[in-house]
Amino acid sequence: MTKLVAASLLSADFGELKAAVEMLNNSKNDWVHVDVMDGVFVPNISFGQPVIKYIKKYAAQPLDVHLMIVDPDRYFEDFCKCGADIITVHYEACRHLHRSLSAIKDLGLKAGVVLNPHTNVSLIKDVLYLCDVVCLMSVNPGFGGQKFIENTYNKIKELKQLIKEQNLSTLIEIDGGVNTKNSSLLYEAGADVLVAGSAVFSSDNPANTIEELKK
Ligand code: DX5
Ligand code: ZN
Repeated sequence: MTKLVAASLLSADFGELKAAVEMLNNSKNDWVHVDVMDGVFVPNISFGQPVIKYIKKYAAQPLDVHLMIVDPDRYFEDFCKCGADIITVHYEACRHLHRSLSAIKDLGLKAGVVLNPHTNVSLIKDVLYLCDVVCLMSVNPGFGGQKFIENTYNKIKELKQLIKEQNLSTLIEIDGGVNTKNSSLLYEAGADVLVAGSAVFSSDNPANTIEELKK
């Protein structure tokens, strides 16, 4: 069973971003989850390339860049240059998903698709072989600190089955409402990577919480 944690900097204190990244470097965290929002695909705006470049300067772990933006292909090269290691795009934001995933992989990066809570996993069956990771949103994207949607457990099982049928090693990532109470159930259900924002950064001991999430 793979048990990775991708702490989401969206919930970090942006005035102390360097300290947040250094804390992650010294913890059991695996990926640094970076949420890019454009105020169009999602009703919120976060940060973009200049901030990611700065995060990359200090981060010891791979940057997992979650693009919540329309027409994301316009920016793949940019995000690659500023330090993304993994780029995930929304199924709902890509008109030509096969092309988008191929373009990310052509840059030498790991590629993934993110599915909103309403999107059925069967819809990505034909591009699954291009996905290093599939991220299931367990909240509606746009904000940290929301309540976990329970139907995610069913989606994990369905996705696991598709991955198995095609004999792939695609990782299953879960994003939204993850905490120390549901983490073990999520790993047991078949999740490989858990994104955690508020659970980590609102904790008194974030490094400890990261360890707790893996127990
Ligand atoms: C939400 C983002 C998440 C967010 C998760 O749209 O994609 O990555 O940071 O935050 P929590 O863990 O607080 O639900
Ligand atoms: Zn995210």
